[in-house]
Amino acid sequence: TERTYIMVKPDGVRRGLTGEVIGRIERKGFRIVAMKKMLIPQSLAETHYGEHKGKPFFEGLVRFITSGPVVAMVVEGPGVIAEMRRLMGATRPWEAAPGTIRADFATTVDENIIHGSDGPESAAREIGLFFKPEEILS
Ligand code: GTP
Ligand code: MG
Repeated sequence: TERTYIMVKPDGVRRGLTGEVIGRIERKGFRIVAMKKMLIPQSLAETHYGEHKGKPFFEGLVRFITSGPVVAMVVEGPGVIAEMRRLMGATRPWEAAPGTIRADFATTVDENIIHGSDGPESAAREIGLFFKPEEILS
């Protein structure tokens, strides 16, 4: 079955929205096969967001994602990579469709509640960055 890497970002955790996000994933019918609350080390943050290195928002992005605990997850189900991107909504919350997580709970592009892998290669890469194989229980 397909798997993706999902993370409630520090703003979501601070605002008490972890349960809301988990609830939406579970009610959709996807399975959370790994989960942990953690502080992301600086080096892991820079690797995770490596594709954005050099962009003007990169430093702020790394500072934000390391600013407090995140809840990291591996989520499994048919078409889960694309479907989680749909449930999350667009990167800029004002462009996200109503009913999506970012439209319902976020106002700014810097603090947009949730991360989800954007394709099969990034899903495999990000799951490997955050979880050991034995931490994934399917
Ligand atoms: P992630 O799930 O966090 O990877 O978001 P995404 O895939 O929807 O967007 P992308 O990977 O392109 O960007 C990663 C993060 O960088 C976004 O979630 C934003 O918080 C931030 N970001 C992206 N583009 C911009 C931008 O133009 N300005 C600012 N300030 N932040 C941006
Ligand atoms: Mg992305």
